[in-house]
Amino acid sequence: MAEYVEIFEMGPRDGLQNEKRLIPTEEKIALVDLLSEAGFRRIEVASFVSPKWVPQMADSAQVLAGITRAPGVRYAALTPNMRGFEAAVAAGADEIAVFGSASEGFSRANINASIAESIDRFEPVIAAAKAIGLPVRGYISCVTDCPYDGPTDPATVAYVADLLLKKGCYEISLGDTIGQGRPETIDAMLDAVLDVVPADKLAGHYHDTAGRALANIDVSLARGLRVFDAAVGGLGGCPYAPGAAGNVATEAVHDRLNELGYDTGLDRQVLEKAGEMARKMREDKADV
Ligand code: HMG
Ligand code: MG
Repeated sequence: MAEYVEIFEMGPRDGLQNEKRLIPTEEKIALVDLLSEAGFRRIEVASFVSPKWVPQMADSAQVLAGITRAPGVRYAALTPNMRGFEAAVAAGADEIAVFGSASEGFSRANINASIAESIDRFEPVIAAAKAIGLPVRGYISCVTDCPYDGPTDPATVAYVADLLLKKGCYEISLGDTIGQGRPETIDAMLDAVLDVVPADKLAGHYHDTAGRALANIDVSLARGLRVFDAAVGGLGGCPYAPGAAGNVATEAVHDRLNELGYDTGLDRQVLEKAGEMARKMREDKADV
């Protein structure tokens, strides 16, 4: 039997958060409901952040309330602080995520905190989630390159990954936020991170700005990673990462993994439909 590699669908959150047009809640719900038919185990659908910082995610509670939950699918939400955590729990998120950075410049721009301050903020969130049995994922942004600070030292990524794991995150997602990673830099970063976190607790989250995400997934597979984040239709970008156009497309990751002999458990036809729906939701020439 082919080995399973999981794609964690990011479209409704990372995919849409940067869209300028405020997308009606019903459209977001329709996208999530279609994605729920594709065979994902985890879909990130919401983000309980400041609506002043990310207006597109302001209706996260309504999205979670409106979707039809498929059995076996966990619907995830970003939670930067206790306020976000409480809102995510009230809205019925099945898992939450804290999100930090391996570069000080991005940490400051994205969550208005230093790396150390952000970890302090995450601590009560992780503890509160654990107390009610809610899984917490940890993101690290700018694992190879930062739009503000330049190249990232792999040792810093390893340091933050180790810390997030020890604080209680069940998985660490390694973000090439601006899609400038190369197979060599991703490999060097993984070399450092794997010294402190095992491959089965890591995920690759590679934006495709420079068209290298699939090559970066290849080297990550060789290093033993078996979870990758992607967004249908290649939607997305981060509002605080200039030039962070496009998550790698779920369809492309699925096809690449199939070509390499892995099983994703996903229905390609549903992915195609969801990709089409996602592309229609984007405004023309969004600020990429
Ligand atoms: P701050 O300004 O330092 O904090 O923001 P604050 O506590 O002073 O709050 C500012 C305002 O936000 C206040 O409102 C708070 O009430 C409100 P005001 O008094 O001005 O009217 N507020 C909230 N509102 C709703 N929900 C909350 C919340 N918290 C405070 N949870 C903060 C700090 C973290 C809130 C802010 O910086 C923020 O929301 N940042 C979010 C940035 C973001 O969402 N970025 C995109 C996601 S990360 C990403 O895409 C990368 C990833 O994909 C991986 C990769 O690709 O690398 C994950
Ligand atoms: Mg991202």
